[in-house]
Amino acid sequence: MRALVTGGAGFIGRWLVERLLARGDEVLALDDLSNGRKENVRDFEGKPGYLGLVVGDIKDTATLADVFSRGPWDSVFHLGASIHVQKSIDDPEPTFRNDAEGTFRVLEACRRQYFEANGLSPDAKAFDYDRDVPRLTKRAPRVAVMSTCMVYDLAGGAAITETHPYRPASPYGAAKIGADMLAISYEKSYRMPVTVVRPFNTYGPFQKSNSEGGVVSIFLKRDIAREPLLIKGTGAQTRDLLYVEDCADFILACAAAPEAEGEIVNAGTGRDVSIADLAAKCATGGNEVKKVPHDHPQAEIMKLLCDASKAKRILGWEPKVSLEEGLARTRAWLEQNRWAW
Ligand SMILES: NC(=O)c1ccc[n+]([C@@H]2O[C@H](COP(=O)([O-])OP(=O)(O)OC[C@H]3O[C@@H](n4cnc5c(N)ncnc54)[C@H](O)[C@@H]3O)[C@@H](O)[C@H]2O)c1
Repeated sequence: MRALVTGGAGFIGRWLVERLLARGDEVLALDDLSNGRKENVRDFEGKPGYLGLVVGDIKDTATLADVFSRGPWDSVFHLGASIHVQKSIDDPEPTFRNDAEGTFRVLEACRRQYFEANGLSPDAKAFDYDRDVPRLTKRAPRVAVMSTCMVYDLAGGAAITETHPYRPASPYGAAKIGADMLAISYEKSYRMPVTVVRPFNTYGPFQKSNSEGGVVSIFLKRDIAREPLLIKGTGAQTRDLLYVEDCADFILACAAAPEAEGEIVNAGTGRDVSIADLAAKCATGGNEVKKVPHDHPQAEIMKLLCDASKAKRILGWEPKVSLEEGLARTRAWLEQNRWAW
């Protein structure tokens, strides 16, 4: 199998590349390095199946044409996106363009490959479902579009299922809903095998530990450096923290299951932890934990708890790594990889 991973030099993307190589796929990573790092994929150079990293922008049709000329791709994992909530509030346009328009461009490139493989012109500007779908006998690339739990409305104390209403608290969440709905529409319009994968907050080795990073890496790095851990706001806000290798396995399971085509699927542990409790778990040797004013209180979601029963039902997927184990692995990695600070 030949796989393309957009955002492949990012945190979750590089783990997906690793998993795909381990199962014997040929893998190309595409990333503009706006938040990814060449070091994240350094270990793959020279490995069998690794086709390299293309440094380029998913919004650029010439870049996508070049990348797809290196196909055909059996699967496309679309993870490339601007992921920063506060940046999307400060300046919404780059997030809108990368996340909504970027997803549209990737879907269009997949549609072109699909149509051309079946002798249909992607530029014909006339698609007759009853006439053309039976002609689409050669399979389209299997597409997994990466969404986020930040799309959902507040859920009180309840765990969030895929049918929970949307109400994004940031342009990031809103742009992702646009991207997700485009993906679903491509399945409905063209019968393209697309799945929207919706993991809750993901953490682990290779996540950035600066302001662009995730709370777990930020807390652990500060603890290793013997700096106080800073809680934004009250610390009562909770997160359902998914270890990154479980997340990568979830994405692979989504792209393998026919039952997941045209579906949106959540992933999380079903257990949430408050940021104050997380800080207490990360602080060692009496290290100080301090509360500081929140930078985007209006976009804070006080409780994020995942109901992943659909993933269990249709994929047989369940997370394997406990929070304690995941924190230990992330701490060990940060201790050994100071280049990533
Ligand atoms: N980390 C989480 O907790 C989490 C949770 C749910 C969903 N997600 C989603 O998972 C995906 C990966 O997130 P991540 O945490 O690994 O973040 P990340 O920033 O490490 O990965 C995203 C990658 O996309 C690249 N990128 C951004 N814009 C691009 C563009 N225009 N062209 C090409 N590449 C571009 C970045 O350089 C980066 O390497 C994102 O779609 C994100 O929304 C992340």
